[in-house]
Amino acid sequence: MTGEGFAARLRRETAQAHAGAERSPFMAELLAGDLAPEALTALLLQVHHLYAVLEPAVDAMRGDVVVAPFADEHLRRLPAVSEDLRARLGEGWRSHLVPLPATERYAQRLQEVAGWPGGLVAHHYLRYLGDLSGGQVVRRLLARAYGVAEEELRSWDFPGVPSPKRYRDHYRSLLDAAPWDEAERDRVVAEASRGYRLNEDLFADLGGSLPAWRR
Ligand code: HEM
Repeated sequence: MTGEGFAARLRRETAQAHAGAERSPFMAELLAGDLAPEALTALLLQVHHLYAVLEPAVDAMRGDVVVAPFADEHLRRLPAVSEDLRARLGEGWRSHLVPLPATERYAQRLQEVAGWPGGLVAHHYLRYLGDLSGGQVVRRLLARAYGVAEEELRSWDFPGVPSPKRYRDHYRSLLDAAPWDEAERDRVVAEASRGYRLNEDLFADLGGSLPAWRR
């Protein structure tokens, strides 16, 4: 396909994997407002684990020429997710941070790729471009379904990114400009697909509690 940049290819070649994660029963029921608010808290508790591994890994690779352009302070999520959890669970929120098996596997993969710039960017793309794309829709749906003000869903709120649409375009230009040869591009696409499956597995683990959360 001529004229297609790497960002477009990445999106196209992972579209099916994205659809797999998106169609998870846990997310479908959560977004439909069919679950108790504890289900949203449970999701945030797991997501906290992921950012607690991903963000220090990105910080450690800030000096790398490939990672540096992506390592934007305005994207940082851990403080926002922590704030949401404190608001939902109170001061003792940290005692609720128990990773599910799929979260442990996801976090382990993040650790494994922490020293590989292309792999780290693949996971960076999944989380942050996801938060700035579908995450913005997710935030609106969750706010409506669970009676929470959008401002209280800080996990998907990027005060330092006034236009998610423009940021997404900028992010795609960074992906297009990343100095990867074809073989490395193949590996990055494969890692992103793997990342979607890790997310799908995480939703499946969360789905184990669906009967308890249905209302
Ligand atoms: C119920 C769950 C989800 C919903 C409703 C959802 C929804 C969406 C939507 C509407 C878009 C925009 C598509 C477009 O621009 O045409 C999008 C893009 C995206 N989503 Fe999701 N998504 C979900 C789960 C996930 C997960 C689990 C991840 C990975 C952690 C993810 C990562 C992404 C990424 C990286 C993009 C940008 C793709 C690109 O333009 O390259 N999404 N999502």
